[in-house]
Amino acid sequence: MADLEVKNLAKSYDGKTKVLKDISFSIKNGELVSILGPSGCGKTTTLRIIAGLIPETSGQVLVNSKDITKVPVYKRNFGMVFQSYALFPHLNVFENVAFGLKMRKMAQSKIKEKVVAMLDMTGLSDLATKFPAQLSGGQQQRVSLARALVINPELLLMDEPLSNLDAKLRLKMREEISRLQKKMKMTVLFVTHDQQECFAISDKVLVMKHGRIDQFDTPQTIFHHPRTEYVARFIGYDNFIPVSPDSCQDKYHIKVAETVLATKETNSNAKVLTIRPENIALNSETAGENTFTGKIINREYLGQSFKYTVHSKLGEFQVEETRQKMRSSGDEVTLTLPAKHLHPLLK
Ligand SMILES: Nc1ncnc2c1ncn2[C@@H]1O[C@H](COP(=O)(O)OP(=O)(O)O)[C@@H](O)[C@H]1O
Ligand SMILES: [Mg+2]
Repeated sequence: MADLEVKNLAKSYDGKTKVLKDISFSIKNGELVSILGPSGCGKTTTLRIIAGLIPETSGQVLVNSKDITKVPVYKRNFGMVFQSYALFPHLNVFENVAFGLKMRKMAQSKIKEKVVAMLDMTGLSDLATKFPAQLSGGQQQRVSLARALVINPELLLMDEPLSNLDAKLRLKMREEISRLQKKMKMTVLFVTHDQQECFAISDKVLVMKHGRIDQFDTPQTIFHHPRTEYVARFIGYDNFIPVSPDSCQDKYHIKVAETVLATKETNSNAKVLTIRPENIALNSETAGENTFTGKIINREYLGQSFKYTVHSKLGEFQVEETRQKMRSSGDEVTLTLPAKHLHPLLK
């Protein structure tokens, strides 16, 4: 497997609107990097340019420091897995997996050896003679993965590979992909719009917004330190307190609605403060700083927890609590926003 580097990639389909604007990032050998973003933000376009399926408008793709931007798709040794599986319907499982090796004119005996090993590794041995129409969605996706891996690709590109599977199978397949990726030390670029999925399997996550990268970090850093409101919203923060430029008292104190809020991270240039719903404490006994009163105006049952909407002079807050005792609409409460969980965001 190989290192991938993407430099200043831009793309316009119609010569006017740029759907990709200056995308740069790199993936080290053996890393799994995800592109996370909503539908239409440019994930597939990025992947297809790297694969060589569509031309870039400008920019470069490098593999092991070698510029491959103009190398045709069939000369790039990349594996691809799509949402739609894209299996050959008239070929059985064995033949589907063998296809790439036949194209590479490998000897029959060698092909057989490699395909048998790959079917074994992906748990498909018993299905070798079945045709795609006889397989479940999960089995088809496994064939598509085996077909991509058998050529021993330098890079594996996966475009929402789990989106068409039901929730349970999606979890199972994502574990399998993660296990195989580590075992084979694969370099993988994985596209998804599912935050949980991407945090579960990625070494690093690239959050994309309208054809640009908003943040490129480890899942832990993105979860605890989202850089922008866009990233924070995408990963489940839903409390945002606007900050006006003159409200910063010093680097770690901001005055909002006559209440001084303390932060642990410096708030210079912050436009907004954010906190996750599960990090706000209601009626905390140890409450000190960052505490103010509010009134519950709505309650939702989430199974493991309750989610409350709380009205306060600082605005409305979403608060998630796992405690057994249920609170009710109309209850007066205090809210505490622990400084270590209150993140200043740039925009
Ligand atoms: N073949 C195409 N021709 C014109 N516009 C396209 C084409 N493919 C994608 N687009 C546009 O490019 C933008 C990014 O699309 P895409 O890369 O498919 O996003 P994603 O995979 O994140 O959903 C969208 O606005 C989409 O409508
Ligand atoms: Mg897409």
